[in-house]
Amino acid sequence: RKPVTLHRIREMQAAGEPITMLTCYDASFAKLLDAAGVDTLLIGDSLGMVLQGRSSTLPVTLEETAYHIRSVQAGNRNAFVLGDMPFGSYQESKEQAMRSATVLMQAGAQMVKLEGGGWTTETVRFLVERGVPVCAHLGLTPQSVHAIGGYRIQGKSADGAATLKQHAKELSDAGAAMCVLELVPAALAKEITQSVAMATIGIGASNACSGQVLVLHDMLNVTQGKLPRFVRNFMDGAPSIKAAIEAYVAAVKSRTFPDDAVHGY
Ligand code: KIV
Ligand code: NA
Repeated sequence: RKPVTLHRIREMQAAGEPITMLTCYDASFAKLLDAAGVDTLLIGDSLGMVLQGRSSTLPVTLEETAYHIRSVQAGNRNAFVLGDMPFGSYQESKEQAMRSATVLMQAGAQMVKLEGGGWTTETVRFLVERGVPVCAHLGLTPQSVHAIGGYRIQGKSADGAATLKQHAKELSDAGAAMCVLELVPAALAKEITQSVAMATIGIGASNACSGQVLVLHDMLNVTQGKLPRFVRNFMDGAPSIKAAIEAYVAAVKSRTFPDDAVHGY
């Protein structure tokens, strides 16, 4: 296949073709996910939990993220690669954010992702104006887990929903090309998707989003313990890891995953 570019992502969004995303942290999986046709690979700060065994994403550093981006790009050929801006690498100022984005882009990221709404709008504008494609991340923002008080559904109250919608609109207007919506009620995720220019990527949101993302180790049933309702085990019935990834791509492309009645809120 041809390289997936931001231009191609916008074409998919305009055509109503769901965008597939999975997290990825190393060259071997990058090669496999690319061959299975996954559109976009996210070097998420979930690497702190799934690779390092930490209990949150907070300890992940910029250099660790850059290392995994370099590893992914060593195996990837055509997928579009996003890197997470770790906690503490963009909160101080838009200049700090630009310096951190530079490290990730020089490691091979084609887009950076940062969490939060409202205060992030000016940072997003600053980066986009300077040639850094940006993915926003609203709803449950795991870097704020200690402020939120746990991993819980967001935007449930009327006030919370209105704020989330407002933040999404501001980020889209500031030039964010994509936005992860995490643990957002299905109706709200749909409303946001229909009202903003940027592509929405759902995780525990709705199949009405422009695309979907899952943590690789969760959907491959590697993660032990209780998983959130929005995860589906794609190894179930798959003869190989490659087949499981292909099943994920097919399910997202056909909007059979997620099933809002089963995986939604
Ligand atoms: O870090 C991560 O894996 C993420 C996705 C769950 C969206 O941010
Ligand atoms: Na993340």
